[in-house]
Formats: sequence, structure tokens, C-alpha cells
Amino acid sequence: MPTRNIIEVSNLSKTYRKGSAGEVKAVDEVCLEVPEGQFLTILGPSGSGKTTLLNLIGGLDKPSGGKVILDGLELSKLSEGELVRVRREKVGFVFQAFNLIPTFSALENVEVALAPTDMSKNERFERSIELLESVGLGQRAHHLPVELSAGEQQRVAIVRAFANKPRILLLDEPTGNLDTKTGREILRICHEANKEQGQTVVAVTHAGYVRGYTNRLLFMRDGKLFSQIPQEEFEEPV
Ligand SMILES: Nc1ncnc2c1ncn2[C@@H]1O[C@H](COP(=O)(O)OP(=O)(O)OP(=O)(O)O)[C@@H](O)[C@H]1O
Ligand SMILES: [Mg+2]
Repeated sequence: MPTRNIIEVSNLSKTYRKGSAGEVKAVDEVCLEVPEGQFLTILGPSGSGKTTLLNLIGGLDKPSGGKVILDGLELSKLSEGELVRVRREKVGFVFQAFNLIPTFSALENVEVALAPTDMSKNERFERSIELLESVGLGQRAHHLPVELSAGEQQRVAIVRAFANKPRILLLDEPTGNLDTKTGREILRICHEANKEQGQTVVAVTHAGYVRGYTNRLLFMRDGKLFSQIPQEEFEEPV
């Protein structure tokens, strides 16, 4: 039996008005099917529409045209309340800028992702510590984001997205401004979650080395998706 598509995107578009520059088609008639359990990477240069596409898939933004079906649910047909629930229960987001809560410790940032579950306070604490330990941050649990390196903050953001065991993980530039070694460590963590827990992962990035950790690669340019593009354009700067 063929694997079911957990993400189905058809003719998806997002147009922004940009003052005198006219309109920008940040996402332009994109069609995409992602089978459950796939680790998909979308590689594209800055401004190609990666963040916009990811936000549309995760229901954080509304399309100008087309549709997104997540786990059988068409997002545009959901009420605001239903959409919030779908996002909370099915989707883990790692944002380009981490978005950790600055006044919360690493531990509290992870615990807060478990607040909507029916776990007790103690269970939430134990699961959060366990997650932080799994990425080597057990000793840093009580530090504030500002006291952590970029790589450590990114690891907190990633375990926070995993905390609730969402079926879909959306990673926006998961290796961000990290050095290649830390970036590879982050990818290894995502790869393990994908392999061991069967989570579907969609990562968007400009970092060419991400391709080594995934099982499908697409390219984005000017709001459109391609299955092949000359790879030289995506080499990392030296
Ligand atoms: N809120 C907005 N208003 C107007 N234009 C926008 C908005 N958000 C994005 N854009 C434009 O849409 C295009 C795609 O932007 P997007 O952030 O999706 O690109 P990206 O591939 O994620 O880039 P980067 O690699 O730099 O993060 C760009 O031309 C951008 O300027
Ligand atoms: Mg972006």
C-alpha cells in the first residue's frame, strides 16, 4: 500500500505588495506532496520564498491562492480555534530566529510546549529535562537564552518543537548561523527523530550540506519549487 501523504499542497500562492516595487510572488503556484515519515529538504537562496512557504504549510499565514491539507485537514476550512489546535497538536516549528522566550530558562522554554498536554507538572519537568539531556544540555537547563550560545539556543528550540511529539516538524533554517560542526549536530538530532519516531520533517535552508541528512531534496527559486537546479548556485559561501 502506498504511504499516505501527510502534507498536500496544491497551487499554493502568496503575493505581497511592496510599495513602488509592485507585487512580489513570494510563493508562486506551488504543488507538493509529502508522504508520512519523509525528511524533505528545500534548498534555496535568500528571498526565494522558503519561510513564506513553511509558514503557509504550518498554518501561520494565509495563502493568496491554493490550498494546504495537513493530515487530511484542509487548513482554509478550519476555524481560527481549530487551526490553533491543529498547529499545537500536529506541528512542531523551529523558527529561523529560534523565538525562545527570553525571560524563561531553557527548561521553562521546553516545559511551556507541554503545557497544553494532560501531563502533570512533574511529568512535564521530567520530560523536559530528558529532552535537554538528549541534546547535551542537561547542565544548561536553568540558563536563560541570553546565557546560551547560538548552537545551544538552537538545540533548545529543536527539543521544544519535539517535546509534544508532533507528527510534522517544520524547520526554518535549522542550522541558521551555526558553524558547520554545530549545524551537523542539529541535523543529526532531527535525523534521529525522523528515523526513530517516524516524524515527517520539512526543512528549508540555504545550507547545501543539509542534503546529506535527508531523503528528498527540492529547490526553490523565485517562489517556485523545482526537482533539479544547477547545484553550484547553492554552494555554501567559504
Ligand atoms: N511580510 C512581508 N511583506 C512583504 N514582502 C514580504 C514579506 N515577507 C516576505 N516578503 C518577501 O517575499 C519574498 C520571500 O521571502 P521569504 O522570507 O519567504 O524568503 P526566504 O527564502 O525565507 O529568505 P531567507 O533565506 O533570507 O530567509 C522576499 O522577496 C521577501 O522580501
Ligand atoms: Mg527565511
